[in-house]
Amino acid sequence: MYRRSFLKWAGGKYRLLDKILALLPKSEKLLEPFVGSGSVFLNSDHEECLLSDCNADLINLYNTLKIEGYDFIDYVESYFTKENNTETKFYDLRERFNHSADSIERSAIFIYLNRHDFNGMCRYNQQGFFNVPYGRYERPYFPKNEMKHFQIKSQRAKFSCNDFTQCMLLADKDTVIYADPPYVPLSDTAHFTEYSQDGFTSEQHQDLAKRARKLAQQGVPVLLSNHDTEFTREAYAGAKMLSFPVSRQISAHAKGRGHVKEILALFEPGNTASN
Ligand SMILES: C[S@@+](CC[C@H](N)C(=O)[O-])C[C@H]1O[C@@H](n2cnc3c(N)ncnc32)[C@H](O)[C@@H]1O
Repeated sequence: MYRRSFLKWAGGKYRLLDKILALLPKSEKLLEPFVGSGSVFLNSDHEECLLSDCNADLINLYNTLKIEGYDFIDYVESYFTKENNTETKFYDLRERFNHSADSIERSAIFIYLNRHDFNGMCRYNQQGFFNVPYGRYERPYFPKNEMKHFQIKSQRAKFSCNDFTQCMLLADKDTVIYADPPYVPLSDTAHFTEYSQDGFTSEQHQDLAKRARKLAQQGVPVLLSNHDTEFTREAYAGAKMLSFPVSRQISAHAKGRGHVKEILALFEPGNTASN
């Protein structure tokens, strides 16, 4: 049984853990440049973990939980009341979050928002304000045990808010990298220059693959995950690839669930033909 993260997170890899952990080469250190809700970190056993993400609220929350421990968990629980589960209260707390400079308060309300907003989404407007609407859940779950487990595991972790390009510079010969960027769009073509998904462009995907190939040549294995598309196959050329179907809600516009293909691409010393 795998451990679940305490956050709902778009692109979370809980359901793919069997395949990811089977492919991830053994090493002392794990480096995750796109840690998100941390499914891989939570279910692996490295002596040291360097975990990074460009979402500053997420990293602030992880550092708060790591340092403040169980007192912080009790404090977060105080937000999970029946009185706080109304539309009015939700928007009051969202407003408080958006204007709070207190990192403990912000971290606590971030978890409240994650469990009370629409689909556990995390989205900001152009001014950087959190803007996901109320989710209307009857009784939002308070992830106490999941937070406790994360807090214990986090003692071996360092969290940093960085772009993936900065984070990947920290790899050394004892490191393995698991890189899980925002998904490429599910199009049939090899190129998607017309738009980017979640602000992550095709150039960034190509840059990530290039860095993975280079690191592997220097002896650092890199496992990447993404949708299996013509674009990703081309970008990950030279890596060992594993493709498999997963069932998933395809988009807000698609009706029901569908099957899409995921790809895991392992760049490791020895299989990195240049591209
Ligand atoms: C697919 S999610 C990772 C999910 C994670 N593996 C999990 O199991 O929850 C992608 C993450 O990349 C982060 N991200 C997006 N662009 C980034 C960038 N340029 N550098 C670092 N992180 C980025 C997002 O904030 C998001 O948390």
